[in-house]
Amino acid sequence: MFTKRITTSVVLVLFFQYSSAIVTYNVVNLGAKADGRLDSKNAFLKAWNSACASANPAIIYVPTGRYLIASAITFGGQACKSKAITINIDGTLVAPSSYNAIGNAQVWIKFYRVNHVTISGGTLDAQGAPLWACKASGKSCPQGATTLGIYHSQNIVINRLRSLNSQMFHIMIYACNNARLQGVSIVAPGLSPNTDGIHLISSTGVTILNSKIATGDDCISIGPGNSNLWIETVVCGPGHGISIGSLGWQLQEPGVQNVTVKSTTFMGTQNGLRIKTWARHSNGFVNNVVFQHSSMVNVQNPIIIDANYCPNKQNCPNDLLSGVKISNVVYEDIHGTSAKQVAVKFDCRKGKPCNGIKLKDVNLKYMGRPAASSCSYVGGSASGVVGFMSCL
Ligand SMILES: *[C@@H]1O[C@H](CO)[C@@H](O)[C@H](O)[C@H]1NC(C)=O
Repeated sequence: MFTKRITTSVVLVLFFQYSSAIVTYNVVNLGAKADGRLDSKNAFLKAWNSACASANPAIIYVPTGRYLIASAITFGGQACKSKAITINIDGTLVAPSSYNAIGNAQVWIKFYRVNHVTISGGTLDAQGAPLWACKASGKSCPQGATTLGIYHSQNIVINRLRSLNSQMFHIMIYACNNARLQGVSIVAPGLSPNTDGIHLISSTGVTILNSKIATGDDCISIGPGNSNLWIETVVCGPGHGISIGSLGWQLQEPGVQNVTVKSTTFMGTQNGLRIKTWARHSNGFVNNVVFQHSSMVNVQNPIIIDANYCPNKQNCPNDLLSGVKISNVVYEDIHGTSAKQVAVKFDCRKGKPCNGIKLKDVNLKYMGRPAASSCSYVGGSASGVVGFMSCL
């Protein structure tokens, strides 16, 4: 008896002092149901709370099957002890088919103030179609939820995640530092409203790699206050392309700087590489952007700076001196086909002309012929431009 007790405590001491044992919480053991019908939200919260309270790095495991998350869920990290939490998903998290359940929440699955969180694998199915139909019918409908939102967080990895049919944006990265999204796949129909793929706001050090995004809105949209972004090997289409903007809605607005977008393919998108800014008074800006190695397949506006952005064409602001300063944007090795004659359009503003705009090795064709370009209030240079007439 005595010996046994000693042995047990020795083992425990050894375990706590020397083990880096990773603890795993399987949501099914905590009550989640893989039938897609019973709400599993509480089981997911239990798993998160245990992982978060664990002194060791923790894994949350979601086996195959469909798990209903019947209302908006938040994984908060403020009180977490664990230094790292990994969520390994083999299954699908599914939203209710009735859109009101999450339609008025801003975000369906939200991470708030977390650090060192990895989400690996899995599918998020927001079942957005009934809400899009409501919006198309002109009835009054909820705005819709972003499927996955990461807010005020650091050191995030999103790996091989699939997001289907979001009500609104698929993934939102908001005020985060150091996030890496790789092998992400996003699918929604070309006519689904506001289903942006990945939307970035006020974040720094975000990397997006090897991803495929088909949506009804922007493939990746880069809002105010983002810097040090690296986007590489992304295929977009259908959708509205990769956009910096819209910017300049606010007078006081942080700028966008140091953005690299390389090795992208656009298939039948409305835009390829776009910068869009409102013609309003703003101290917002865009500076130091490199667009490199891009392939366009039948894209309506392969390269566009629209400093008179006003999508509804109603009550458009138009103060000649206002706008967002756009400078040092390089387009290098951009090739393929344009669906319109004007493949390169720089529509800048008199009060704040675009400058340092460079075209290098740009080769865009419209119906087998050199495409055209148009320039207003833009300064820069062109070299190695073939296959189209540069206005720079
Ligand atoms: C620009 O961003 C990249 C990451 O995308 C980073 O490695 C680099 O240090 C940044 N450059 C500056 C001047 O901040």
